[in-house]
Amino acid sequence: MAPRLSHVVLCGLCLVLAAASVTAAQRPLSRTAVYRQVSILAELGRGLFFDRALSASGRLSCASCHDPAHAYGPPDDRAVEPGGTDMSKMGLRAVPSLKYVQAAPQFTEHYHDSDDDADASVDNGPTGGLTWDGRVDRGRDQARLPLLSPIEMANDSPASVVAKVKRSASAELLRRAFGPKIFADDEKAFAGILQAFEAYEQRASEFYPYSSKYDSYLAGKAKLTDQETRGLGLFNDPAKGNCAHCHISAPGRNGTPPQFTDYGLAALGVPRNATIPANADRDFYDLGLCGPLRTDLRDHGEYCGMFKSPSLRNTAMRRTFFHNGAFHSLKDVLRFYVERDTNPDKWYPHNAEGAVRKFDDLPLQYQANINVEPPFDRHRGETPALSEAEMDDIIAFLQILNDGYQPASPTWRRDNRRADGASAAENRRRLRRGEPFAPHAAQRFD
Ligand code: HEC
Ligand code: HEC
Repeated sequence: MAPRLSHVVLCGLCLVLAAASVTAAQRPLSRTAVYRQVSILAELGRGLFFDRALSASGRLSCASCHDPAHAYGPPDDRAVEPGGTDMSKMGLRAVPSLKYVQAAPQFTEHYHDSDDDADASVDNGPTGGLTWDGRVDRGRDQARLPLLSPIEMANDSPASVVAKVKRSASAELLRRAFGPKIFADDEKAFAGILQAFEAYEQRASEFYPYSSKYDSYLAGKAKLTDQETRGLGLFNDPAKGNCAHCHISAPGRNGTPPQFTDYGLAALGVPRNATIPANADRDFYDLGLCGPLRTDLRDHGEYCGMFKSPSLRNTAMRRTFFHNGAFHSLKDVLRFYVERDTNPDKWYPHNAEGAVRKFDDLPLQYQANINVEPPFDRHRGETPALSEAEMDDIIAFLQILNDGYQPASPTWRRDNRRADGASAAENRRRLRRGEPFAPHAAQRFD
């Protein structure tokens, strides 16, 4: 494993380890004992992740929204997913994949890239954190959000989550991890539960296996087709897709596998999505970094409209794209990138006088925040940066970023395409039985 990767990965583990050794018992544990504890925690986290009984409705688990068969992203093409005490509430944002978020740096307003010595003085602006607006840094702080959100798992208090865990099959593991009296203290028990989610999300085999065809290619073990090669070139070319500018495709200086994101937050001006119920209120805007879900940067108008650049690993398994799920195919995403400025009439609604309302999901006073780097550097009527065929080449390239490449099996593509539904169920069975998870079995090649 490359030095920087092991640093990143182990650091995540260190945090879990450090926390585990302190929380479990107020005395130092041996290294072996700590590792055992982390593996118990991850196992506990896995059990909790799939447990619908942890929601007020009894019908929603983490996995309902973060489906392992779709890279822990949304199971379907809905822009947002339902939740709430009776499952009648709809979410505000598209469900992100939980894969490859382990290496996200802590959120900062001023990010300096230590991997790039020459440019270490450059301020890359707001970067990092978890969720679309980077408002939490750690898995444990994030897990609290859906468990207690009235539009998601809708528990009314940490104590009610603890009570549900106490009644569940996971109770014994929580006792094993934190001692037989853990349920006597709701606060400690809740903290332990949150920590278990974080430990589970650090499992490399499930969340960051780096097992795509592109990883094999970087390791010199696979050859790209002509179309994939063209796609990679267009993805990287600053005068064409310029995608790699934000979705980094090259290994780090020490050979770290690329994450396909720089974790930066940017305002792309994605069209408003009328299918999100909250958007029926014309005065409601999801402004990302400056609120309303995130509250600490409300006074920073210069951040309004910014959302985190997601990893494009496994993005070809998704059927809903961008923070508000405005698009449902990679082709539309690509078309939006290259036609946003050359043909805005196609992407935005018009007012009564027939004038296009460009950037209709961002109030006028914030529109200076919109990104204008290539391919967003063109003007109305100019030729888009990519032709239809070039967009198809990039999509072919994006498909080799799906995990689970099996070069040994000549039929893997066909098998996987056919087996999508069935193998998702099989994967869930395996997960329940604690057997190794087979992400490749659920690949989609639409
Ligand atoms: C109702 C659907 C839903 C459920 C249930 C749900 N999530 Fe999420 N999850 C989301 C959405 C939507 C976001 C993005 C939230 C945002 O940007 O504010 C998200 C974000 C995340 C993130 C941050 C990922 C990133 O790319 O930054 C993590 C980690 C996560 N969820 C874990 C969990 C865990 C653990 C559970 C169960 C305790 C859970 N989720 C339950 C919908 C859901
Ligand atoms: C200026 C930085 C930047 C550039 C250049 C860029 N992206 Fe993005 N990308 C982002 C950000 C930020 C988002 C999230 C925006 C949002 O949801 O509002 C995003 C989202 C996406 C998504 C949706 C992923 C998901 O999980 O919903 C895809 C797919 C994508 N980009 C592909 C590309 C491709 C292909 C290119 C090149 C043609 C490209 N991007 C160029 C920053 C960038």
